[in-house]
Amino acid sequence: MSVLLSFVCSLHPTNSSQDVSVILSFAYLTVRDRLPTILTRVIDTIHRNKNKFFEEFGEEGVQAEKRTIGFLSKLRNELLTDKPVLVLCDGLEDTDSWNQYLQRQQRLLGERDPVSWFKSPWLYIECYMYRRIQEAIWLNPPISDFDVFNESKTQSFFESQQAVISLCTYLQGFNRNMDDLSETQLMEQFHKLLQVSLWGNRCDLSISAGMENSQKASPIDSLCDLKSFILVDDSNMVWSALTSAQRPGEDGKTTPGRVDIVLDNAGFELVTDLVLANFLVSAGLAREVRFHGKSIPWFVSDVTSHDFQWTIRQTLAANHKWMSKSGVQWQSYVREGVWSYHDHPFWTMPHEYCDMAGDAPDLYATLQGADLILFKGDLNYRKLTGDREWDHMVPFDRALRGFGPAPLCSLRTLKANIQVGLQPGQGENLNTQDPSWMTSGKYAVVQFSSPHREQ
Ligand code: F6P
Ligand code: MG
Repeated sequence: MSVLLSFVCSLHPTNSSQDVSVILSFAYLTVRDRLPTILTRVIDTIHRNKNKFFEEFGEEGVQAEKRTIGFLSKLRNELLTDKPVLVLCDGLEDTDSWNQYLQRQQRLLGERDPVSWFKSPWLYIECYMYRRIQEAIWLNPPISDFDVFNESKTQSFFESQQAVISLCTYLQGFNRNMDDLSETQLMEQFHKLLQVSLWGNRCDLSISAGMENSQKASPIDSLCDLKSFILVDDSNMVWSALTSAQRPGEDGKTTPGRVDIVLDNAGFELVTDLVLANFLVSAGLAREVRFHGKSIPWFVSDVTSHDFQWTIRQTLAANHKWMSKSGVQWQSYVREGVWSYHDHPFWTMPHEYCDMAGDAPDLYATLQGADLILFKGDLNYRKLTGDREWDHMVPFDRALRGFGPAPLCSLRTLKANIQVGLQPGQGENLNTQDPSWMTSGKYAVVQFSSPHREQ
């Protein structure tokens, strides 16, 4: 980390991060129960694909399958018996950074005990498990490109078909009448689709340890009932950020700004993000949308480049007029460069985002070119706020500890014990009414922050 950034982060003293060593905490239970279940499912998936590997690669494929299962079974055993965290040895682009990060953790822990599965910050160890899965696959060619979570992601997309159809039908309905919409109506549609994208984040497969978790109900019809579960709603500020990014062009027409979406889950959530992005472009609220996804399979359901393209192709090929029309539109946005997909190794590192300017300056500089950044989901929220045990009343801006490449908004359903930016008494009331409010995915926040930019 650069000296400057360490200084910026140290200007914002923080509480400790959520730690796995706290017995029976959500972090501890995740590592004790959820992660081994996910690993078992991964092993099972690889085993079930044995014939496929044989068909594609012959005996070499079968040997690779056996070796990978051996690696992953060892990994599972390391986790269950609280073994020391091992350095990575796969020589990938980010391997050195991971190993340096381990040294950093060791320094923080002191030299007496080695950093181990149950003696680590939760954010670090959870990310590390997914990175070790990638190592196991990568070190075993010819199956090195196999996405162990692909089946679950595909299944979750198909299980949400009715919800996807109803959303695409809704989108095409107002796309046809866009010119007749008043500014107020446009704003109302924006709020609706922002909320659809927000609630789309309920459908992740990490919280359910890989079990089915798709959207069944019509997303637009559910919004009213869900409204009271939004604990902080800064969507008016998001709207203002979009409208104030519009600048007069040379031809006298206004040119809208660039919106970046830091994606979370594939399946239904990704469709909600694409629908929102479609609306932003067709309503003249964004001239360009950049999507940021993961470069390796991550937290079961997170979007990779393959998932992004596959989802657009599936939508396009659907046997439903409005769904297919949406897919055609999305593909042409991609072809024309109005939409683009980007990945960067930083998104699959365990770093807090206040480290980004120092540890991934190129990514930080890219994000600075956006007029608005939407961060989807729970894991992004944990990284934005450093996964700290903040008091609930600490302002969101403060929890970001200097991170602010551009105006940003977190759209997140609560699935981890962390929440900032609440009103006095709000957290206490929730604790009484519903003790699992921070982890059940029932509640959500739309939290906005704007950096004080030098003119
Ligand atoms: O497994 C724990 C966790 O990090 C939770 O915080 C959350 O349940 C999930 O993984 C990821 O959620 P999301 O897909 O919203 O980032
Ligand atoms: Mg996710």
